[in-house]
Amino acid sequence: MNSPPYTAFARVYDRWCADLDPARWARYNLALARRHGFTGGRVLDLGCGTGLSTRPWARVAETVLGVDRSAEMLRRARRRRPRNVRFLQADIAAPGLLRGETFQVVLANFDVVNYQTRLRNLLCLFRNVRRLLAPVGCFLFDAVTEHAYRRVLHGVPVFQPLPAGLVILEGRYRERAGLWRGEMTVLLDGRDGSCRALVERHDQRYYSPARLRRLLRAAGFARCHLYATLTIRPPGPRAERLTVVARP
Ligand SMILES: C[S@@+](CC[C@H](N)C(=O)[O-])C[C@H]1O[C@@H](n2cnc3c(N)ncnc32)[C@H](O)[C@@H]1O
Repeated sequence: MNSPPYTAFARVYDRWCADLDPARWARYNLALARRHGFTGGRVLDLGCGTGLSTRPWARVAETVLGVDRSAEMLRRARRRRPRNVRFLQADIAAPGLLRGETFQVVLANFDVVNYQTRLRNLLCLFRNVRRLLAPVGCFLFDAVTEHAYRRVLHGVPVFQPLPAGLVILEGRYRERAGLWRGEMTVLLDGRDGSCRALVERHDQRYYSPARLRRLLRAAGFARCHLYATLTIRPPGPRAERLTVVARP
């Protein structure tokens, strides 16, 4: 059975992410934000999913707002919600998002930028962030590198067993178009011994560092720093993901 992205997958997302150590990612993002001037205030997490990237900020921020378009992901996010954390369902690339609000840090963690397959949507997202960011604030996001699309996410299916299920991810990267399509099969064991298969299609676009810089500049960001994710080194040719900190 086919379902839209982050519906079937939402059921197993947190267990699927466990190996990736989301707490380590959160510590890294916080350290980078501090390096770029974060001392507290309001935090916005765009494409927050089940809140793995949102909740860790509750301890250091005044308030945290997570925004996502997937009702299934948000339903899980709201189950464990610290007092100063809120979640909202919206399209983060829609013009006028959260008009009138201001944040010290805006995050878009774990492929969120690559999910904007249309250039104009990513530009709109960046413009939203620029408008929502305090003058001394920073925008922190990650992006998948072309090396990862070509060498890691192309062709070979990845099987990840889970308690009571299995996730199979098979991706194809079309280099000329810069588009990646992943077919995610979620197999869920039923209590009666049956097995249900749910299939989602995930579409992403590769954005080169040069293109990201151009789009950020067009959205009004003046400064942009690139790191190989989970380090403070510039990304080398074999980096699988880069982290960007953009500032007004
Ligand atoms: C890989 S998940 C990342 C979730 C979370 N940030 C984390 O680190 O675990 C990507 C999320 O981005 C959301 N997303 C992608 N494009 C979006 C859009 N235009 N508007 C709102 N949410 C979006 C998806 O629904 C999904 O929950």
